[in-house]
Amino acid sequence: MGVEPITASLFSDTAQLRNDGVSIGGVELRDLATTFGTPLFVYDEETLRERCREAASVFDDGVAFASKSFLCAAMARLAFEEGLCVDVATGGELDIVLRAGVAANRIIVHGNNKSHEELERAIATGVHRLVVDNFDEITRLRALVSPAAPLNALVRVTPGVEAHTHEYVRTGQEDTKFGFSVATGEARRAIDELKDIEGLTLHGVHAHIGSQIFEVEGFRESMTVLAEFTANDDFDELCVGGGLGVAYVAGESAPSIKEWAVALRDAATHCGLRPGVRILAEPGRAIVAQAGVTLYRVGVVKPVTQRTYMAVDGGMSDNPRPVLYGSGYEAFDVDQPLAERPQQVRLVGKHCESGDVLIDEAYLPASTGVGSLVATPVTGAYGYSMASNYNRVPRPAVVFVRDGEVREVLRRETFEDLAHLEVGI
Ligand code: LLP
Repeated sequence: MGVEPITASLFSDTAQLRNDGVSIGGVELRDLATTFGTPLFVYDEETLRERCREAASVFDDGVAFASKSFLCAAMARLAFEEGLCVDVATGGELDIVLRAGVAANRIIVHGNNKSHEELERAIATGVHRLVVDNFDEITRLRALVSPAAPLNALVRVTPGVEAHTHEYVRTGQEDTKFGFSVATGEARRAIDELKDIEGLTLHGVHAHIGSQIFEVEGFRESMTVLAEFTANDDFDELCVGGGLGVAYVAGESAPSIKEWAVALRDAATHCGLRPGVRILAEPGRAIVAQAGVTLYRVGVVKPVTQRTYMAVDGGMSDNPRPVLYGSGYEAFDVDQPLAERPQQVRLVGKHCESGDVLIDEAYLPASTGVGSLVATPVTGAYGYSMASNYNRVPRPAVVFVRDGEVREVLRRETFEDLAHLEVGI
C-alpha cells in the first residue's frame, strides 16, 4: 500500500493493465463506464468459470457454489454449467436459482429458520440436499416428509472450532444460532431423530466455521471433529462449508481452492475418515470475489484540515462491507492503473452519513480528481448481494465480460423500479 501502483495480483485472471487503461476479458473498463454508467459491477467471466472448474475438480461431486456471495440468474447458471451445485439460504435465493434453470437436484437448501413454505418447496421440487439446522425444523419436517415426499438431507453441526476471522462471520463456535452442537450431544440426538423419519435419507454432516479465513488449520480441525464424530455412522458425505478467504489489499495472501482441498483431504487421511465418504465444500467468496471490480465516477474532492475526502457516485449501498466489518479495499484510477499513488484520500460515497466510507485511506495518482474513473478491485463477493437502496440510490448494473464481449446480466435500477412497491401513488 502507499505510493506504489496498485498490485496486479488483486486483479482477475484476464485483466491487462497498461499505462493508459485497463481491460478485463478483452474489454476496456473505460468503455464499460461510458456505455453502462457508474457505479458498475464488472465481472471477469473467465475467472468465475475457472474458479468454479477448480472447485469442481478438487472436491467430490456435490461441491456447491454459495450463492449468497453473488447471486443473479446468470451466475447461478454459470456455476451449474461448470459442474457445481448451488447452495441457497432462503426461499428468495431458491426461487431465482430455479428460475435460472438450475436443476432442482443440483440445489442445496440452507437456513437457520426455514419457513413451512420454504421446506415445502424444497421437498416438492426435489432438491439435492436440505441442510437441517434445528429441532423446530425437525418437527416441521416430520409433518412434511414421507415416502411419497422424500428428502435427502445433511445435518448442520457446530464443531466447536473458533475460526480466525471477524466475529460477525464466525460460526463454528458453540455460541451460535447455527446448527446442533457436537459437544452437548444435541447433534447426535438430531441424527437419531432424523434417521427415524420415513422418507428422509440422511447423507452426512455439514459444518461451516466462518468466512474470510486465511489459514487452513481451522478447516483441518473441523474435518477432524466431523470425521471422529461420524466414525460409526454409515454416512457418505461430509461438507466443511465455505469460508476460504481472499486477498483484498496488497500484502494479503490466501490459499487457493486447490490448496484448501488438499489440506482437507490430508486432514481426512490423518484422522481416518472412512474411504468413500465424499468430501464437499461450498465456497462463495473464493469463487466470485476476485472476478469482480466496481467502477465509480468521482464527483467531489473536498480537502478539510485533517484530510481530503473524495466522493464517488456509489458507496455503502453497493459495498457495505467496510462499514459492517471494517473491511479494507484498494483503489486505482482506471485511466492510469500503473501510476504511483501519492494522493491519500478518504474514499467516500454519496450517502447521508459519515460512516459511508469505502476506503479509509485510499491511495490514488496525483492527478485523480473530479470526473476521474476510480475503481475498487476484489468487489465480486457480498457487494451486489448485500447492496441496498439506502437513500433511494438505485442498485448498479452488473456486466460479465469475456473474449471481448460484454453481457449485461443485471440492469441498473431506475427510479421507476424504486417506486414500484408504492401503494396508492
Ligand atoms: N456455506 C454456509 C453455510 C455459509 O453460511 C456461507 C457464508 C458460505 C457457505 C460461503 O462462505 P464464503 O465461502 O463466501 O466465505 N457478508 C459477509 C460474509 C457472510 C458469510 C455468510 N455465510 C462478508 O461480506 O464478508
